[in-house]
Amino acid sequence: MKPTKLFGVYELPGRRPRIFTKNLVPGKKVYDEKLEKDKGVEYREWNPNRSKLGAYIMQGVRDAFIRPDQTVLYLGIASGTTASHISDIIGKGGMVFGIDPAFRPLIELMFLCEKRKNIAPIMGDAFHPETYESLVPEKVSVIFQDVAQRNQAEIFLKNVRKYLRKGGFGMLSVKARSIDMGAKPKQVFREVREKLEKELTIVDFRSLEPFEKDHVMIVVKKK
Ligand SMILES: C[S@@+](CC[C@H](N)C(=O)[O-])C[C@H]1O[C@@H](n2cnc3c(N)ncnc32)[C@H](O)[C@@H]1O
Repeated sequence: MKPTKLFGVYELPGRRPRIFTKNLVPGKKVYDEKLEKDKGVEYREWNPNRSKLGAYIMQGVRDAFIRPDQTVLYLGIASGTTASHISDIIGKGGMVFGIDPAFRPLIELMFLCEKRKNIAPIMGDAFHPETYESLVPEKVSVIFQDVAQRNQAEIFLKNVRKYLRKGGFGMLSVKARSIDMGAKPKQVFREVREKLEKELTIVDFRSLEPFEKDHVMIVVKKK
């Protein structure tokens, strides 16, 4: 297992590149990922077909913006597939606050949180960030959003304004078809980008293909 240039992300050299995180809870899988052991340490494979952040990393990026001991606000956490890898990277000193309004995935997430104490499940609608202010007690270093909603950009901006610290990073996974089924994806992405640019610095803008069709990841920094 080889460390990559990204914090807490490892790779197994081979014909097909495979990425991993160190398992915070050895012996336990979160989804159907493979576990690999090397020199007594257990790693969990990060499946880029199941995770937009995994798909982003597979584009050969220079930074994934997640660091040990960070606090992360995760909008659209679902059952915690991607959040589990963030949990591996931030480690026991960090915390993920995960928002989702859907009951079923949150039940699954609650089982995961019993094993991973650095994820807090919050049933909520990210369009109303004031409704969970008593549960997210501080400004966070990173906001990650994957909600596949028509008003993705507005949801993201509301949370960035309220919860992201100055100099912190926001990562928005944009699904063109959720915003406008009929429009050209490029046009949809341009409009989202323009909305964000009015108040944030765009740090990266990248397609998630071939893992996710008509999706981009936009990374911003709060001024
Ligand atoms: C594509 S899934 C997320 C998958 C997850 N990010 C992962 O990689 O493990 C989208 C999630 O967004 C949630 N969602 C939709 N609208 C939302 C909202 N307004 N606030 C928070 N979450 C929302 C859905 O319930 C769903 O679980």
